[in-house]
Amino acid sequence: MTDLVAIVLAAGEGTRMRSAMPKVLHRVGGLPMVSHAVAAAQAAGAGTVAVVIGPNHDAIRDAVRIAVPGAAVLEQSERLGTGHAVQQARVAFEQAGGNVVVLYADTPLVRAETIAAIATRLDAGADLVVVGFEPENPSGYGRLLTDGERLLAIREHRDATEAERAVRLCNSGIMGFKAATLRAVIDRIGNANAKGEYYLTDAVELANADGLAVAFTVVDAAEVIGVDDRQKLALAEGYFQERQRAAFMAAGVTLRDPATVYFSHDTVIGRDVTIGPSVVFAPGVTLGDGVTVEAFCHLADATLAAGSDIGPFARLRGGAVLEEGVHLGNFVEVKKSRIGKGTKAGHLSYLGDAEIGPGVNIGAGTITCNYDGVNKALTVIGAGAFIGSNTSLVAPVTIGAGAYTGSGSVITEDVEPGALALGRARQVNKPGYAAMIRERALALKKSKQR
Ligand code: UD1
Ligand code: MG
Repeated sequence: MTDLVAIVLAAGEGTRMRSAMPKVLHRVGGLPMVSHAVAAAQAAGAGTVAVVIGPNHDAIRDAVRIAVPGAAVLEQSERLGTGHAVQQARVAFEQAGGNVVVLYADTPLVRAETIAAIATRLDAGADLVVVGFEPENPSGYGRLLTDGERLLAIREHRDATEAERAVRLCNSGIMGFKAATLRAVIDRIGNANAKGEYYLTDAVELANADGLAVAFTVVDAAEVIGVDDRQKLALAEGYFQERQRAAFMAAGVTLRDPATVYFSHDTVIGRDVTIGPSVVFAPGVTLGDGVTVEAFCHLADATLAAGSDIGPFARLRGGAVLEEGVHLGNFVEVKKSRIGKGTKAGHLSYLGDAEIGPGVNIGAGTITCNYDGVNKALTVIGAGAFIGSNTSLVAPVTIGAGAYTGSGSVITEDVEPGALALGRARQVNKPGYAAMIRERALALKKSKQR
């Protein structure tokens, strides 16, 4: 493939989002929309990525730099149309020898395969390729006016005749150019149209006038959904999730109720993993082979090694690492902790800021008391230790290998390996006292009834 330059237009107003944040920073699958577009371009082999942003949109600049550190970010100080926006990215294509693809930052679901197919088509002889789609309601979109395989023009809805508005094939906004073609047409685009904007879409008629080969492809409408408001954002999220679910099932993951499982853009899952209903994967999660996640779990920034199983109702976050074969049961929360091979925490626990060795048993109701209101402190539990039910581990504290803590203990001091630690009041039994207490209670009740 020849060199590919991607220009991502992100100078949108986005007022219909009713948001303090620029539209293209709203997230799909946990990733800002602009980053999706930029990542797709890079995955398609774009060696140069340029993003055109509006004034005062430094936050977009930051998101772009995280997605593609070498990306050029250019400012369009006045929003004069898509053609004008592409002119702002001239530095990215004025010397380019290969192809240029233009993407919209508010169209986050475009696939790398679609971008690569445009590049292939350009390499095969086309000078300009437009990606079309058939929306349920074409109103508002530019229409593709075609003649067989050829694309003659794109007519914006506002500028179209009744006959042209009857065309159902629309412009997705994604266009590929030979770099030379883009240079030949970009400065000839005018603004004599209903909106008074410089329309990039006019490039089609200009290229045809030069006798160049202008083609089009058609993709599924879901792939090129444009997000203007929160309804469309929710639709885009839904399509994204459907795509993720299908991809994971194809890769050997069992989803017992796919429609209720939510993934992030960066979720990584091994083979023969089983995921129950209503599970949420926030960003930063990796599951090894053979992991089982039971119903109603929430995972964020967590790594589960092969063969571990969690839930129902487990929560992992903030750098939780489970080594091989760890078992976490219901209502167990793990934050910023490493849990050793084969360790079990079956019920109702909070494990935060902990280093827990292999083969440890964490009894029901165990809490690491990691926070004093100001600082976080570490709990260390050695291999094979047995933490009795309802133990409070007041950090910083270390439990030695193989040690026991008695149920209900509040452990404030380190426990040496192999020791038994009891940190609770001693039990006292008083024979016959039960009847006496009952009589006293009945007498009190009677006195109140008078
Ligand atoms: C555009 C297309 C239309 C297509 C539709 C698909 C043109 C003239 N029209 O119309 O054919 O069917 O998208 O959704 O291209 N932008 C800038 N700077 C500008 C103007 C726009 O960066 O000055 C960016 C926007 O942020 C957005 C994209 O370009 O990402 C499209 O702009 P928008 O105003 O939404 O164009 P439409 O009228 O929807
Ligand atoms: Mg639009």
